[in-house]
Amino acid sequence: GQRKFFVGGNWKMNGDKASIDGIVSFMKGPLSPNTEVVVGCPQCYLMYTRQNMPDNVGVAAQNCYKSAKGAFTGEISPGMIKDLGCEWVILGHSERRHVFNEPDQLISEKVGHALESGMKVIPCIGEKLDEREGNRTEEVVFAQMKALLPNISDWSRVVIAYEPVWAIGTGKTATPDQAQEVHAKLRQWLRKNVNDQVADSTRIIYGGSVSPSNCEELAKKGDIDGFLVGGASLKPDFVKIINARG
Ligand code: G3H
Repeated sequence: GQRKFFVGGNWKMNGDKASIDGIVSFMKGPLSPNTEVVVGCPQCYLMYTRQNMPDNVGVAAQNCYKSAKGAFTGEISPGMIKDLGCEWVILGHSERRHVFNEPDQLISEKVGHALESGMKVIPCIGEKLDEREGNRTEEVVFAQMKALLPNISDWSRVVIAYEPVWAIGTGKTATPDQAQEVHAKLRQWLRKNVNDQVADSTRIIYGGSVSPSNCEELAKKGDIDGFLVGGASLKPDFVKIINARG
């Protein structure tokens, strides 16, 4: 297909230099040349990770601010991340939304500024358990997409991560059919609200308890273009997930 399989690891707030050395060793692979691979590491280890990780593995920050510089104590800018040699940033992860109360509007502005700064962005969306149980999944993810839309200036540098919140870190994966259903709806949404070219070329990846044992079935689905992997990205079997589609 025209969409290259994409696997991101999200280390979240885990790791130290010694454990990153271990991750760097298993990331030497071999990794499938058909998969684009990125690891999201804690801000303080971005430079260390970039300097040590093989060149075929991209490095992502897990967050950034919506401005280039200024009086924003504790924040980092896309320009700073790029200055360290890292091209990617994950934005609007469910933990940013629900632990740190980041609203749609702020996430959208962050995505806009990161794209304007030349970065590649992984915006994350997904419904909570009560929203799924109330049959509101579609409404919730479409509203999250709608909020992002005005700030997306270049879709070729965007990979959408669909992560149902109830599946994150719980061991409770969406079934391949459940994930495929939402991915297909998101692609329809892109077709209707952006255009055919963007709908056909934008990678929509799944996150939420992806593991070496469930990745192959998920990877067979037509609208699942890869994964965003939390816990399993810290372990050597992450390579199996990277190579899930061969
Ligand atoms: O960004 C990754 C997701 O939050 C999934 O985390 O694979 O540990 O469930 P998990």
